[in-house]
Amino acid sequence: MQIFNDKVALITGASRGIGTYIAKSLAKRGCRIVAIARDKDKLSTLCQEIENQGGNASYIPLDLSEIHSIEPAINSLVDDGKRIDFLINNAGIEQYRHLQNYTADQISKIINVNLHAPIELTRILLPYMLENGGNIVNIASLGGKKGIAFNSIYSATKSGLIMWTDAMRQELNKTSVNISVVCPGFISEAGMFKDSNMEAPRLLGTSSPLDVVDAVIKCIEKNLAEVIVNKGPMKPLLSIGQLSPLLADRIVGMMGVREMSLRRVEAEKSTLK
Ligand SMILES: NC(=O)c1ccc[n+]([C@@H]2O[C@H](COP(=O)([O-])OP(=O)(O)OC[C@H]3O[C@@H](n4cnc5c(N)ncnc54)[C@H](OP(=O)(O)O)[C@@H]3O)[C@@H](O)[C@H]2O)c1
Repeated sequence: MQIFNDKVALITGASRGIGTYIAKSLAKRGCRIVAIARDKDKLSTLCQEIENQGGNASYIPLDLSEIHSIEPAINSLVDDGKRIDFLINNAGIEQYRHLQNYTADQISKIINVNLHAPIELTRILLPYMLENGGNIVNIASLGGKKGIAFNSIYSATKSGLIMWTDAMRQELNKTSVNISVVCPGFISEAGMFKDSNMEAPRLLGTSSPLDVVDAVIKCIEKNLAEVIVNKGPMKPLLSIGQLSPLLADRIVGMMGVREMSLRRVEAEKSTLK
């Protein structure tokens, strides 16, 4: 607990889904929470809940797709004397489409929220973190380890987030700042997969939001490079993908991932986001 007590954790995407679990769990461990997302009411409810449990939480309503609005918001936080010890880049969006059916703006938005915003937040906070020490945990996805058909922009951003973390870990070697990446598979109970009302392919199964929280905690406690959150034999499967992407396509196809993605394209057509 010592490692978390009285530390300030900035968590993006904390208005709903997995982010609320991360915020509440870190608050329970003694962290002071700064929650970021667009939905002010949900952020306010989260902070109230944390305060009611004896914790400390505040929020910044911010649209992370507006990259140039991030620096002024974070600077005013830091100017207020707030030191950020943990940056949890959790906000993420996805849209299931055939590539030709995305607009250029939709593509930019996904890239901004999932990849550019974590890089920008880190760029702004890094000088402070290098002085005081800190941990950055990026929430990527198994979809960044193996591409997901009809969710290709999401996959590209998550793969980018994984590789950017890899580069930064080496860049930050021998500094007091640690950086890790968490790659969840399908998550039950809360979040974007749960909201899709789809059934996960049986061989891939689901994990819970608390499994993602455990991964985040372990990353901070043990300075882990990468944690995969999935109950299946994911590492051997991913290794096969490195050796033979076509064989991995066949395995993923047999698992029914492509069919499920197609169903999500159809489902999203009727609830156009
Ligand atoms: N759920 C899964 O099965 C799963 C699997 C693998 C990886 N992940 C990853 O886990 C992370 C959390 O996902 P989740 O399932 O909890 O998703 P979610 O329930 O859809 O929540 C997404 C969060 O991101 C915030 N967000 C979205 N657009 C934003 C924007 N423009 N500016 C600021 N905040 C924004 C949302 O808040 P507002 O709408 O209030 O802005 C919300 O708090 C994501 O990075 C996701 O890719 C999830």
